[in-house]
Amino acid sequence: MPVMIITGATSGLGEALARHAISRGYTVLLTGRRIERLQVLKEEFGDAARIGQLDVTEPEKAWSIIEQLIQEVGGVDVAVLNSGVSNFQGEFSPETEQWVIDVNVSGFMQTANRFFSYFEERGSGQLVGISSVAGMFGYRASTAYCASKAFVSNYLQGLRQRARWSKASITVTDIRPGFVESEMTEGKKGMFWLVPADYAAVRMLEAIEAKKTRAFVPRRWALIGLLITVTPNRLLDRL
Ligand SMILES: NC(=O)c1ccc[n+]([C@@H]2O[C@H](COP(=O)([O-])OP(=O)(O)OC[C@H]3O[C@@H](n4cnc5c(N)ncnc54)[C@H](OP(=O)(O)O)[C@@H]3O)[C@@H](O)[C@H]2O)c1
Repeated sequence: MPVMIITGATSGLGEALARHAISRGYTVLLTGRRIERLQVLKEEFGDAARIGQLDVTEPEKAWSIIEQLIQEVGGVDVAVLNSGVSNFQGEFSPETEQWVIDVNVSGFMQTANRFFSYFEERGSGQLVGISSVAGMFGYRASTAYCASKAFVSNYLQGLRQRARWSKASITVTDIRPGFVESEMTEGKKGMFWLVPADYAAVRMLEAIEAKKTRAFVPRRWALIGLLITVTPNRLLDRL
């Protein structure tokens, strides 16, 4: 049975992915800060799940909890680095921006780097990062968030290149969701093509199992991705 670890599995996309992965036969290791949510999920999933409370902004502590979980199940095949926060609602202060960077950039890098080394040592594995279509451009109402997701995508690209030069067989997958219903997007205005987290999770798992390099979720967001790529910066600057 394949083993998948998910960071940020206490709600939204992470929780939905866990549920779907279990239905496909995976054993899942669920992590996040909210222990009460993790306990509810453990009760629901039984032996198919193990839980570990961790905060990705405390990397050493977080990694020792992850190592403990890995030891318990004998190894991890897929690591989905999904933990993330946003200032989608337009909050703009050095403190809010720092918080987004701490979780989405530093927390992500610390976990991704350690998992990459783990897979190198193990000889194989799949590292999946959840970036966003929002990582393809800057946006005034979520300045740090967009910048943080650009970091995620570019860091993953660097890891993919490292994987090519490594003796290990490591797949690096960049998942770029559009708008998905979750705590993160609750109350946000101006969204379109919004999909339920369950629907997005099915598409995410398809992309993971197909060992895609990059995947827009749902796929129609690739059109927006293309549009962003061909739009001159002087127009994007006016958003
Ligand atoms: N919803 C969208 O439209 C959308 C679009 C594109 C990309 N994404 C990305 O998808 C991922 C999941 O987001 P979501 O929409 O499912 O939102 P969500 O329901 O708010 O989930 C965010 C998850 O991140 C975890 N998290 C936050 N801070 C953490 C920390 N310091 N340490 C460990 N875990 C932490 C949360 O768990 P705890 O609070 O329990 O720690 C939660 O499980 C994020 O990376 C997000 O940027 C979402």
